[in-house]
Amino acid sequence: MNINQLITMKAQGEKIAMVTCYDHASAAIVNQSDVDMILVGDSAAMVMHGESSTLPIDTETMAMHTRAVVKGAPDKFIVADMPFMSFRKSLDSNMAAVETLMKTGAHAVKLEGVAGNEHLIEHMVQSGVPVMGHLGLTPQSINQFGGFKVQGREQAAQEKIIEQVQTLSDLGAFAVVLECVPAALTEGIAKSADIITIGIGAGGSTDGQVLVMHDLLGYPSSFSPKFVRKYLNTELLFKEAFNAYAKDVKSQSFPNDEESY
Ligand code: KIV
Repeated sequence: MNINQLITMKAQGEKIAMVTCYDHASAAIVNQSDVDMILVGDSAAMVMHGESSTLPIDTETMAMHTRAVVKGAPDKFIVADMPFMSFRKSLDSNMAAVETLMKTGAHAVKLEGVAGNEHLIEHMVQSGVPVMGHLGLTPQSINQFGGFKVQGREQAAQEKIIEQVQTLSDLGAFAVVLECVPAALTEGIAKSADIITIGIGAGGSTDGQVLVMHDLLGYPSSFSPKFVRKYLNTELLFKEAFNAYAKDVKSQSFPNDEESY
């Protein structure tokens, strides 16, 4: 999958399926699936490292996750997330973070917000880096939002999001994630935007959807947003497997002769 194929999918109205992924073993399975794009999201901080927000993860850790995913899913278009503050310093330091992520083999990077990032986005695009924006509920601003809440309910906030999508497009971004915004707002944006729109909790009119892998696979979670659809009960399946294994160890039916040297 490459950027031109994704642009063609948008033009032809074929929906794009994106999922987050953080490790090599899972990436190898996604690689065999019909999913088009992988996001190595900074949600890794929460899902893989048990943090309560995305803020603690750094560029090196994101690069480590991205490298593992790139090796596992050579056929997919892979976007690496720029972690909190990695793009809010000097242009040199911001571009160093971009370089670290792109040199893992990722095909694009994603960064949250637009205000203050305009010069960096332009510089990235001019440097050959495909840029995906992220608007609406931007989890790196969780402390300003006061929680994981739907954004863009009021008219002024809606106008700002519409304006920011246009700015991203003008700056040369190829795509934008719209997170936790009203479906009616997304509908208008998806119809008029030149860039690829990917929704999460944003209704069905975007060019594609993204979900956190562990949410869609039904891993245990203290919070399950309304927009998550669970396609598997991994919690139950894993528990059953672990219990069956523990039972076999305790009853000494594992290992048997065939499983021994
Ligand atoms: O990090 C992430 O998983 C994300 C998605 C929720 C879009 O940014």
